[in-house]
Amino acid sequence: MFQDLIKKRRSIRSYTGEKVSKEDLECLLEAGLSAPSAKNRKPVEYIVIEDEKMLDHLGKFKKGTAAFIGKAPLAIAILVDKEAAQVTYVQDASIAATFIQLQATDLGLGSCWANVLGSTDPEGRSGEVYIREALGVPEKYSIQAIIAIGHIDQFPKDLPPFDRKAKIHYEKY
Ligand SMILES: Cc1cc2nc3c(=O)[nH]c(=O)nc-3n(C[C@H](O)[C@H](O)[C@H](O)COP(=O)(O)O)c2cc1C
Repeated sequence: MFQDLIKKRRSIRSYTGEKVSKEDLECLLEAGLSAPSAKNRKPVEYIVIEDEKMLDHLGKFKKGTAAFIGKAPLAIAILVDKEAAQVTYVQDASIAATFIQLQATDLGLGSCWANVLGSTDPEGRSGEVYIREALGVPEKYSIQAIIAIGHIDQFPKDLPPFDRKAKIHYEKY
């Protein structure tokens, strides 16, 4: 059931050494490509990274939490054409990334989103520039996220329950 999938999905930052199969990778990419986008512009593109050295390098793109990328067997960089979708590029990319993460959960894989926007590399430069240079991404693309994916080697702690009353409003705020 979809409800079970939603509850099962967690951010997984620790992975076994097992590779993600070609079939699973195809499923993950298909999920991203199937995500809706404003006016069906499909401005989102993907870079698949499996090279260990590159994964390790990408794991250092920011001072914050991104090291898990270096421990993953696979990462997918989420790029979006800012010129093609000037108003909705953030939403379009976020939905595609979310579809990939839910597909990963459905395949029994773990994933975690590494946020790029506003990040700073260890030398104080933009984290997005660090990734752009490493992956050769043209300027017209915004790099919204790197999604690390692998076989789960971690059972994350339960999160605090959410407060429905504080978050849901009926009819008026
Ligand atoms: C937009 C977005 C950006 C995130 N960026 C990071 C990140 O840079 N590093 C990280 O370790 N986790 C990141 N996460 C994962 C969140 O920390 C995580 O989703 C949150 O703590 C809730 O935990 P859960 O995913 O297990 O439910 C991000 C999640 C989202 C949705």
